[in-house]
Parts: sequence; structure tokens; C-alpha cells
Amino acid sequence: MAKKIMIMDTILRDAHQSHAATRMRMEQMIPVLEQLDEVGYYSLEGWGGATFDSCMRYLNEDPWERLRTLRKYLKKTPIQMLLRGQNLLGYRNYADDLVEKVVEKSIENGIGVVRVFDALNDPRNIESSMKAIKKYGAGGKCVCEAAISYTTSPVHTLEYFVKLAKTYENMGADNICIKDMANLLLPFDAYKLVSALKDELKPETKIHLHTHNTTGTGDMVNLMAIQAGVDIVDTALSPLGNGTSQPATEPLVATLQGTEYDTGIDLNKLIPIAAHFKKVAAELEKEGSLNPKVRQIDVNTLIYQVPGGMLSNLMNQLKKAGKEEKLPEVLAEVPNVRADCGYPPLVTPSSQIVGTQAVMNVVMGERYKMVTKETRDLFAGKYGQLPMPVNEEIAEKVLKGEKRITYRPADDLEPEYEKLKAEVVAKGYYTQEEDVLSYASFPEVAENFFKWRKAKNEGVDADMAKTGIYPV
Ligand code: CO
Repeated sequence: MAKKIMIMDTILRDAHQSHAATRMRMEQMIPVLEQLDEVGYYSLEGWGGATFDSCMRYLNEDPWERLRTLRKYLKKTPIQMLLRGQNLLGYRNYADDLVEKVVEKSIENGIGVVRVFDALNDPRNIESSMKAIKKYGAGGKCVCEAAISYTTSPVHTLEYFVKLAKTYENMGADNICIKDMANLLLPFDAYKLVSALKDELKPETKIHLHTHNTTGTGDMVNLMAIQAGVDIVDTALSPLGNGTSQPATEPLVATLQGTEYDTGIDLNKLIPIAAHFKKVAAELEKEGSLNPKVRQIDVNTLIYQVPGGMLSNLMNQLKKAGKEEKLPEVLAEVPNVRADCGYPPLVTPSSQIVGTQAVMNVVMGERYKMVTKETRDLFAGKYGQLPMPVNEEIAEKVLKGEKRITYRPADDLEPEYEKLKAEVVAKGYYTQEEDVLSYASFPEVAENFFKWRKAKNEGVDADMAKTGIYPV
């Protein structure tokens, strides 16, 4: 039986987030948007993740304007975004009214698929987002895709992931995504995981796989997942594909051509678009946002079982402390710290928290002699529920009587939209409801951007507007 594989291309978001610090500009996308729309992708990822921050901080772009522009050119293909659950597009927990507003405005401005995830896989942290996606995306306007943060540990078994996926399905997810941001998922494990999800989930629930090619296994992971029945895989057009980005689109399309998994995508349509992005990649490299090293295979993750970004952070921290020779000890300490705090997946922010604590434990010569505020918050439940109970003996040492919470972290938060709106209005920057959401996500960055935009619109400070240089 033929099974058409669908593809999401990440060229407009994760590809340049992974290769070029999210620095692709709107004008570098526009020339090929109409061609991209004709390819026949399941979706094009183009918003969310770090684009929101990067647009305002570095590119003098209103992220909402970017979304509306994408929508203008992409008439057929759904635009997909990445949402960090209760952390939305920023890094703190937001109140539920703001979560609802961000989802409402994202869908209203043109998002057709929202991928929502929580770093700890705590369903309570994506519940509000999912409710809002179902509410504002009803009637086929927007697909609700709940993502599992993939990781490896003694508790992250096949059963664990199937149970989590079922929970998300019961909460209303149309798609379940396996989000393997660190490229830890190995090809044969991908086969087992996708097979198990296919067996256990409803037939109408689509399975969407997101991996990277950091360790060089990405293409094999995709191919094994395809043979196990995955519905959608993520790839990036070759000029910004592979390495720390997604496996490249063209080789997969060619591989599946004429088989039962044929994507239906015409390779000839991809060639001129890829040629355009080859030029863009060269521009990004020239201005210093793309280091060619990101294209190489890095096998460290395969050896040390920690994500590439985390390993370089560990090495930097040790270098600063003048203790580079302690790396093997720190790498041995990482799994111990992780076990102490209930096996969080090693993704932002838990990868930094666990990594920093492992360095401190080794450098100080005594475990948990010094702890960061973040370690304390993690033990106290302030990031959400951990996959396993924490080590009680260690928790007492870390918390020193500090109160723990077992309820959803965002339950403590008062509604905040109206208060933030009043601030934006009072400062004279309010032009649209979306400005409040930009300001909520990154207050200082948004304010600097608003200042620049006001100057540009009013022609008050033409020089500043022209150079685009403003204090950050
Ligand atoms: Co990614």
C-alpha cells in the first residue's frame, strides 16, 4: 500500500536558526516564496523559536509583519511555528491570558500549524497553549501539533514516550511530533519509537519527526522512521541543510521517488529555490552569521551522550575556571546530577542547569556545596514536574527548607496582558495589539525596536533610522 511521505521544510526557520543564528532577513526570503508555495510541502516552518527575538534584536523587523508578509506570498502552504508552551516565544512562564492572546494573534496573522512543546515534557506546561490552539484554530484553520522532547535516560523508555504521546492525543493533539533537537535519536530506535506510536495512537493522528544532522545520523533516522510509518519528516533545502540543521530535502525527495513513499515533490522545482538560498547562505557567511563549521559532522554527542551545544558550554565553563583537565570527571558527573533531579531531558533550559551544576560539583570538590538559583528552582518544581522523583537527600541539601511546589508553575501568575498593554501605551509605542505581545516576550529588545520604528515612521531621527543602529 502506497504511503505518501509529507515534508516540512525548515528553510525559513530552524535551518537558519541552526546554521546562521536566525539571521535570515525577510528580503532574503521574498524572491522565492511563491516558488516555495508551489512545491507541495506539508508545511513551511517560518516563525516562532528564536525568530521573534532575532527579528527585533538584530534585524529591525517586526516579527508580526514578517508573519503577515509570509502569509501574503504563501497562499497554499501552511506556515508552521514553534511555541515553547507556557514560555511562549520567550524564556519565562507567562500567565494564561497572554498565552491565549499569543496563540490567537499567531493564528489570526496566518499560522496554520503550531508545534508546541515543553522542555521537561510536563503536559501541564502546554495545556493552556493547546486549549487556545483548539479554540482559535477550530474548523481546520490551524493544526495542533504537540511535541515530545526526545532524550535518552533510564526512564525515557518506549513505554514512557507512548504514554506521553497518548496523553497529548487525549488533550486534543492532531499531530504528535518527536522533537529530537540534539540528534540523540538513533535510526533503529527511531524505527521502534515510530512503530510503537503508530500501533498505539489513533489512525488519524499524524506522526511528525523532527531531527537534526549534527551527528550525521539524520538521513538514516528519517529513512528508518519512514519505513516504520511516519507521516511527516522535517528537512531543509541543501544550502542550509545538514550539520547542525535538518537533513537536506533534495536527497530525501530523490531517495523516495518512484517508491511507495514518493513525496510527490518534483526535484526540478527545488533546484532554482536551492540556488537562491545558496546565494543567501554565502551572504550570511560573508557577514559572519554563518560559520562553515556548522556543516560538519560532530560525533561528540554519539560518544558522550550530551547534546553538542551542552558539551561546548561545559568546556567553556571549565576553561574559565582554568580546569580544562576536569572534563572527563564532569562528563561522568552529568548523568549523576541528572539522576538526582529526576532525569530532565537535556534541552534548554535544563541542559544548562544540569551542566553548570555538574561543573560546580567537580570544581568545588564537593557535590552541591554550591548551587545555582536555577538548580534550586528545578528541584523546587518551578520549571514543572520532573520525569522521576528527585533524590530526597540531595533535595534537602539543595533547597535548605525552601518551599516546593507540586502545582502547575503558571498557577501562581496573575493575568498580565492589560497591565503590559497600559505600559506600552504609556510609553507611546502602541500601534497594534501585537506590540504588547512583542513587549511581553522581550521587554528591552522590543522597546529598542519600537524606538527605532517610531523614529523611522516619523522621520524624527533619520540617521538612527537609516543606520538601524540603536542601543541594545
Ligand atoms: Co530543531
